[in-house]
Amino acid sequence: MSLAANSAVSAEAPRRETNASSVSDPIEALAKTVYTSAALDNDFYDLWTSTRLTPRQIAIFARNYGEFNRSFPEILSVMISHTQNIAARTEYAKTLFSEMGYGNVEKVHSVLFCDWLAALGEKMGDRETLVWKNMEKSVPVLPETRALIDGERDLYSSDNATGSGAQLALEWQAYTMLRRLYDGATLYKPLWKDEDEFHESCEYFYAHIGATEKEHKIESLNGAREFYVNAESLRAIEDGFTRHLTLFANFWNAIGRAMRQAAAN
Ligand SMILES: [Fe+2]
Ligand SMILES: [Fe+2]
Repeated sequence: MSLAANSAVSAEAPRRETNASSVSDPIEALAKTVYTSAALDNDFYDLWTSTRLTPRQIAIFARNYGEFNRSFPEILSVMISHTQNIAARTEYAKTLFSEMGYGNVEKVHSVLFCDWLAALGEKMGDRETLVWKNMEKSVPVLPETRALIDGERDLYSSDNATGSGAQLALEWQAYTMLRRLYDGATLYKPLWKDEDEFHESCEYFYAHIGATEKEHKIESLNGAREFYVNAESLRAIEDGFTRHLTLFANFWNAIGRAMRQAAAN
């Protein structure tokens, strides 16, 4: 459905009454289904949180997750530019601003991620393997990572209801994703002689599980509620949501598979 077509749906349908705290809110109910999805229950998280890995294995995760991470502001901008709904656009702009470090380049999320990686590489005695610029040259991006990024771009540039469902899925799985990534990162804590220094290195994770992802969940919920105007739009939101989670499940399972193969070789 085109943006114009979506606007037409919005104009015809009466705006439903919303109650942010209502458990019967179908948008919030949909959002909470992420917890049982394969996007969060997959082979990658099992591996990442169960044992320490080699720098080569970590580089496979970091190259692919980093590629997704770095493309996300661009993808979210697509959503912002494809809607004329001012309230939804405002919610997504807040999310984008936080991704970009609230205007501080040193706090841009992809920058914080690379800082953590470089610190981990140094403590493992193999800094060069986990430096982003080196990984860009030496570690290939998996087809499932390209599929995730391209699929996101398609979903976010589709009709607004579908795009908002995709963004809802992303942000509601993200808190658990970041928390599990942090759980795995703590396995390397003994490599830091100074425990405070370990926590300083982990700013990428704390920024997310401290406040950011809680805010993004609310922003994505508010955005999707703007486009939930009738049964047809709800189906589109559900479709964007489900398709995005499937892309994530494929992405993580492919990374887990490649990491296990790297250990075997
Ligand atoms: Fe982020
Ligand atoms: Fe987020």
